[in-house]
Amino acid sequence: MADTFKNYIGGAWQDASNKATFTNRNPARKSDVIGLFPKSTPEDVDDAVDAARRAFRSWSRVPAPQRGNILRRIGDLLTERKSELARAMTREMGKPFFETKGDVQEAIDTAYYAATETRRLFGRTVPSELPNKFNMSLRRPIGVCGVITAWNFPVAVPTWKMFPALAAGNTVVFKPSEEAPHSGMLLTQVMLDAGLPTGVLNLVQGAGEVGEALVSHPDVNLVSFTGSTATGSRIAETCGRLHKRVSLEMGGKNPMIVMEDGDLDLAVEGLLWGAFGTTGQRCTATSRLIVHEEVHDALLDKLVARAAGLKLGYGNDDDTEMGPLINKKAMEKVMGYIEIGKKEGARLLLGGKVAEGPGLEEGNFIAPTIFVDVTPDMRIATEEIFGPVLSVLKISSYEEAIRVANNVPYGLSSSIYTKDVARAFQAMHDIEAGITYINGPTIGAEAHMPFGGVKATGNGHREGGWEVFDFYTETKTVYVDYSGKLQKAQIDNVED
Ligand code: UN1
Repeated sequence: MADTFKNYIGGAWQDASNKATFTNRNPARKSDVIGLFPKSTPEDVDDAVDAARRAFRSWSRVPAPQRGNILRRIGDLLTERKSELARAMTREMGKPFFETKGDVQEAIDTAYYAATETRRLFGRTVPSELPNKFNMSLRRPIGVCGVITAWNFPVAVPTWKMFPALAAGNTVVFKPSEEAPHSGMLLTQVMLDAGLPTGVLNLVQGAGEVGEALVSHPDVNLVSFTGSTATGSRIAETCGRLHKRVSLEMGGKNPMIVMEDGDLDLAVEGLLWGAFGTTGQRCTATSRLIVHEEVHDALLDKLVARAAGLKLGYGNDDDTEMGPLINKKAMEKVMGYIEIGKKEGARLLLGGKVAEGPGLEEGNFIAPTIFVDVTPDMRIATEEIFGPVLSVLKISSYEEAIRVANNVPYGLSSSIYTKDVARAFQAMHDIEAGITYINGPTIGAEAHMPFGGVKATGNGHREGGWEVFDFYTETKTVYVDYSGKLQKAQIDNVED
């Protein structure tokens, strides 16, 4: 009998209102059923939003540093349960245990960072143009936040959203990905155990229809979404119509540039991690290698030798270096792109096939794949594949590298390997992306640094860093006139 899990709404664990469920399985071993989860309805969303709305009244009035104390306890509990959470996450979404431990650590860092920032939710005081008058701006929470997240960072990314939201005094309705409901449930449990009051956090499991109900609910004031660009565009349209604040983190096609003076061994390490870490299923994955012709062959020889040896398997086995894709649909999409690449005339240097062998029979495994002779306008050079596929483009100058790097609709992360300081600084300005790494791969965001992209990757907001508090707070402007008389701005203080 599979375990059955529930939603958490208004302080109580409960089934979906119509009792419907969906089944969640281990993507490396499909006979391993993780459990049945509520296939929630718009009515469940109504109840969750209602609970969050009621809780907002009191939670928004709790002094921010006291909210911070709960966030600190969340950080402590995540630390205590780090291995347990990581094991469950690996079982549910496939990336190896050493990676899921990093995922929990990112959540721990985010908790402590948000906790300390509750003592620094700065406003400003500025001089008034009139005598005996005081001007200031304050930060106010916004209300009920709808948090919709992807499955690839099922603990870290929800915390990027929920922790600053809660620190600022908002309440939350959380819809994890239907591919990672168990991780979402375990994270929710940690947050409740740390002492969040009733209604401040509500968990509603399910797929697109739950997300839609949340986004279009009139009493949800803000939406934060991580996922595909297509879904993000739809969410933005709805939020635009309803005047909601919305933050979108969407696709990427992140380039690593290796110049002729780049350290090739360092670049190989970076590529293995950036392109094949999380099986390439990160919005920050290194999916394009833009390499100078002088070092192209040498770099690829080294890379292929290492990538061919990556050990695929179940991420909770000790020696696994790369896990499965999340589901069958993802397998089909990636295999589809491999066919497209071949048809477009790119040359398959490694992989390009379903990985077979002992321990791989029951999972969604695709071998690490490298295409060379890729040209800038090919689909495999411009579209997000979200799998272990690296497209290699050869260039002969820095200017060409930048042109090729920017020739995509996305702009999340990027990197350049060079020993030339001037070039590194130029690249920081020239690459169209929210994040640029110098001599490191395109992945590896830190909790206290702004995270987000330009072009079709985002809509101008940032997660992480101090910038995230701008998103989760509203500015209130206050004028205090203690002159005892009516003073007219722009009129009484000007002599014509
Ligand atoms: C994502 O893929 O949605 O910088 C987030 C990184 C991770 C976060 C990735 N820390 O790659």
